[in-house]
Amino acid sequence: MKFFLDTANIDQIKEAQDLGVIDGVTTNPSLMAKEGIKGTENILKHYVDICNIVDGDVSAEVISTDFEGMIEEGEKLASLHAQIVVKIPVIKEGIKAIKYLTSKGIRTNCTLVFTVGQALLAAKAGATYVSPFVGRLDDISHDGMELIAQIVDMFNYYGLKTQVLAASIRNTMHINKCIELGADVATCPLEPILGLLNHPLTDSGLKKFLDDYNKLNG
Ligand code: E4P
Repeated sequence: MKFFLDTANIDQIKEAQDLGVIDGVTTNPSLMAKEGIKGTENILKHYVDICNIVDGDVSAEVISTDFEGMIEEGEKLASLHAQIVVKIPVIKEGIKAIKYLTSKGIRTNCTLVFTVGQALLAAKAGATYVSPFVGRLDDISHDGMELIAQIVDMFNYYGLKTQVLAASIRNTMHINKCIELGADVATCPLEPILGLLNHPLTDSGLKKFLDDYNKLNG
């Protein structure tokens, strides 16, 4: 399973890239705003900066909601860098835009997916990735992981090539569940990924090794 870092924060992206654990980055307009990136030129430059740090796909989201606007923005974003994947919301105009951009060889990430039906329409339009939002479903007392399971099964059943990019991943257990269910990618901040390293037997085992070494050599 691939890990994408879900942030527009350059320091976090550099830290994760240096650790060698990430395969790409996802952003959205809220994450860009959180970093104070404003103005079209600055936003486009920020995407290029991210691409120059990571080896892998970088999702850049359109802000238009009409077909013409989305394809114009999508083509501009895709021309910035070969690693850019255009992120499009799963609305009617978005599905049309995904179909169009796919026909032009531009890769897409269909975002804000909350049902199996939305994932199917995105896949039929040719999306490279679909992004079901796990944490936001959990927030309203729905089982976000159940949606990942259903989409993975559905794509396997119909032989659809679209990758399941589990988004809105908030904790390490979410990641463990994604691995179990066979999600293609999980996107989240660095913290839950580092949580995978935690085990008390690793800590106690390492302490004993070092204590035993130091008894003779210390
Ligand atoms: C996905 O691509 C989104 O950027 C993101 O995962 C949303 O996560 P949130 O629900 O924690 O904001």
